[in-house]
Amino acid sequence: MPTITINADLCRKCGMCLSICPASVYIQETKESIPEVTNTGFCISCGHCVAICPHDAIIHSEFPEDSVKLVNTENMPSPGELIELLRTRRSVRLFKDKPVEKELIERIIDAARFAPSAHNLQTTEYIVIQDKELLREIVQATSRYYQKLISQLHNPLIRPFILLMMRKQARTIIDVLLPGLEQLVLQVQRGKDRILRNAPALMLAHADERTFSMDVNAHLALQNTALMIHAQGLGSYWTGYLVGACERDKSLQQLINLPKNHRVYGGLAIGYPQFKFEKWPERKIPKITWL
Ligand SMILES: Cc1cc2nc3c(=O)[nH]c(=O)nc-3n(C[C@H](O)[C@H](O)[C@H](O)COP(=O)(O)O)c2cc1C
Repeated sequence: MPTITINADLCRKCGMCLSICPASVYIQETKESIPEVTNTGFCISCGHCVAICPHDAIIHSEFPEDSVKLVNTENMPSPGELIELLRTRRSVRLFKDKPVEKELIERIIDAARFAPSAHNLQTTEYIVIQDKELLREIVQATSRYYQKLISQLHNPLIRPFILLMMRKQARTIIDVLLPGLEQLVLQVQRGKDRILRNAPALMLAHADERTFSMDVNAHLALQNTALMIHAQGLGSYWTGYLVGACERDKSLQQLINLPKNHRVYGGLAIGYPQFKFEKWPERKIPKITWL
């Protein structure tokens, strides 16, 4: 539990701390009184109070001096710049045979820290793999996993159980996923890496499955990294096949040294793009229900 105190000499009793706190940690008896810290146990250490206080009157153990920075408004992208970044982020699957510098990957992961997370738990952790041999082994293990799944889906004794487990997705799995998986495995067997596309780097987002909303937290964090990757002139794509296999395949979990009780919730293959998109295609018109 953090410790929070209010410096009575600096506090101007504006009450902004209690207005902004999502966990009702503060109360203010009257407009003339200094807010009191009552429910420290509910504090989620989001830092809203220390960031909003115009007089730096809040002393919060999670945010020592220098850990709260001034916003640099000059660096803020305009809406036009932001939408351009979002429109031009594409899945990059053709990479140069060039390693990605460790400092760049660290800068990319730094961007992930600022994604929202349930209860501000910041559950997401990362595994970065750049070793070519290990990347090759991961591709082979993923392919073997899907090969087994395909034969199970073709086995009349096992197939009904799998489909029962998949419930509403069963039809899509048979009609869409299965033919795609067969193609994927065939190509890997022929030496074409359809799983990691010879990317020089792989970043996996994982978390302790005994917390909560760790899947959503990881997805949001990875989207931050995908945008940062794009802004840095690198490219990435979401390695859905690998993430799906990591879910159940123990050999893959061992290969990536996944900690006990952790699950992989997302992954990006990263590298320098071979080509740059000069154009962007339109997307579907969103279906919106206005009530
Ligand atoms: C959950 C998820 C799984 C994905 N899995 C893969 C994958 O295994 N391999 C791949 O090449 N692309 C994968 N993608 C990328 C999508 O194909 C891609 O985002 C989509 O076609 C839109 O293209 P864009 O990212 O260039 O805008 C995945 C995307 C998501 C969100």
